[in-house]
Amino acid sequence: MADELERPGETPEHEDAEAHLPSPTIWPFGFAGAVALILLGLIISFWATAFGIALAVVFGFLWIRQVTREVRGEPEPLEAPAPGAAEEPVEEPEEAEGYTRSKFLEGATLGLGAAIGAIVTVPVLGFAVAPAFVDQGYPDVDIGPLENYPEEEWQIVTFTSNADKGAVSRRTAFVRNNGLKDQVPSFTIISNRCVHLGCPTQPQGPPGELRDIETSQTPVTLSATTPSGFGCPCHGGAYDIEGNRVAGPPVRALDRYEFSIIDGSLWLGSPYSVSEVEGEGADAVIVKYRPADPGVHVDGPEQVFYPIVP
Ligand code: FES
Repeated sequence: MADELERPGETPEHEDAEAHLPSPTIWPFGFAGAVALILLGLIISFWATAFGIALAVVFGFLWIRQVTREVRGEPEPLEAPAPGAAEEPVEEPEEAEGYTRSKFLEGATLGLGAAIGAIVTVPVLGFAVAPAFVDQGYPDVDIGPLENYPEEEWQIVTFTSNADKGAVSRRTAFVRNNGLKDQVPSFTIISNRCVHLGCPTQPQGPPGELRDIETSQTPVTLSATTPSGFGCPCHGGAYDIEGNRVAGPPVRALDRYEFSIIDGSLWLGSPYSVSEVEGEGADAVIVKYRPADPGVHVDGPEQVFYPIVP
């Protein structure tokens, strides 16, 4: 079968195909690992994300450099000869051939693919990831002059937390003036957001008349109340007067707000999460945690099952 015989001087077809395959490399695996680290970092830590991005840039660069080696006309690195192997005569490299059409098409395909990939991926990543890094803080809110908060009385306070966002940012807090503790004003300010799934809790006691007051920001509505605790209408969660869970599915005490007094007005600061409050009123002992989502344990062994809120 003369046709099946290889003619001297001709390269078999399969060998030629293999010669065009890129040499094996670890860069794609490194890049994939870096992307996985970025995604994991979005859940657990900003620093893991930053480290993942740095790794992705390095591995991505090395990968692109490797796959475009031929297009750029860079020679493949030579493998070191095995010790003891007979030395072969080194051939002088041939004159570099011109920029062929196949190389141009290969480069154009890679470049076009990368451009399309970037156009599709970057906006999606931007919209999905960027909000986690933009400022989503809690602006301080003026909830009115101190004379609206008599000592030892509870007020249900409804306010707009962000004037720019309007009614969608309306929130409610339960505020009690505890008087002075070591000559320092003390307030108990509890968020009404249930820490089971986020339903609005209500004071277990008769609400008073609604009263609108003017502040330096937006109008605030007050209603005096005498609660024995707080209850959630969704799944029966119950809290005592300090916001500690006493029944139902909530996993911790109700969140609270920092506060400050500026020019005779009470201002709400950032919210914080609480596991459990010991004591009452001005004597309460509270360990503050970063604001956590409803359903999340902030202490104890259970906290390891919940990702850190970015
Ligand atoms: S949301 Fe409050 S008990 Fe479920």
